[in-house]
Amino acid sequence: MIEKISELKPVYNSGDVQLYTGNSLELIKQLPDNLIQTVITSPTYWGKRQFTNDKNEIGTEKLEDYVKRNVELYLDILKKLKEDGSLFIIIQDTYMGSGVSRTHQNHWEHNKNPSYRREGIDASAQGNKTGVTAHHPIIKNKSLSGIPYRIALQLVDNGYIWREQIIWEKPNPMPENVNDRVRQSAELILHFTKSGKYKFHKEFFSVKGKSGKDRMANQVWIYPPEPKKGHTATFPSKLVERLMLATTDEHDTVFEPFLGSGTMMDVALNHNRKFIGCDINPKFVKMAIARLKIKSL
Ligand SMILES: C[S@@+](CC[C@H](N)C(=O)[O-])C[C@H]1O[C@@H](n2cnc3c(N)ncnc32)[C@H](O)[C@@H]1O
Repeated sequence: MIEKISELKPVYNSGDVQLYTGNSLELIKQLPDNLIQTVITSPTYWGKRQFTNDKNEIGTEKLEDYVKRNVELYLDILKKLKEDGSLFIIIQDTYMGSGVSRTHQNHWEHNKNPSYRREGIDASAQGNKTGVTAHHPIIKNKSLSGIPYRIALQLVDNGYIWREQIIWEKPNPMPENVNDRVRQSAELILHFTKSGKYKFHKEFFSVKGKSGKDRMANQVWIYPPEPKKGHTATFPSKLVERLMLATTDEHDTVFEPFLGSGTMMDVALNHNRKFIGCDINPKFVKMAIARLKIKSL
């Protein structure tokens, strides 16, 4: 359980756009019920990145804590979703024995400033003395951790309907130095709903079949990653635009608890949706506000 210290205040609020700096597990508890139409989000993947030294940042804690924090957030989101609302979690699994090196060489802050040192809250939390972040006392190195499924199973056991699992295939994934398994070229898009009958504009999930008639799309969607200035873990606008257009109408509210570079914010505003976003890293939120100010000039 997150201890509520004080109410988070938006650092930007134009009525239709609210941005917060802080822990989204705290923020969600203060949002009104029956507000959010769609959540499209991507938590920092376990063991792969660390953007701050804030102990509430998710991504480099114990595996069990990572799953618990994600599940807590999504179950709180369930309370705030409209009856016909949707939750999309874009997520990738992690191999045990992989991850961000504690010696920082592959950490983005290190590249900007080679004297940068992470403070190792993750190391002490995990009891991990190895050079990588993904470590477990029981699960052996080289094994997948099963994170998307660990989270999804708890969500279906606690009230969500798990409607589908779309596979986002990247034609040009991050290179990996492996010879005994396939490359991790795909991420999962897990779609959950609050009710069996949910807002859904099927034309955005349809394709032209051989007969020339529209039919529902297949499960694998191919989109190249879309790197953005100032953030190393972004999702492609075209991909999330499709999810949003299928599950919202104009003026509906979209929530992104892991704002990052603000991809979801831009997509929501381009289509006249209301938007609430939160990130624990003040730099990312400032970048998003700067973009909003340019837009409103
Ligand atoms: C994978 S990135 C999201 C990228 C985003 N979808 C985009 O396209 O730019 C995850 C983000 O979650 C943020 N984050 C991690 N823990 C958080 C927390 N407890 N509350 C809010 N944001 C958090 C990180 O700072 C990071 O920017």
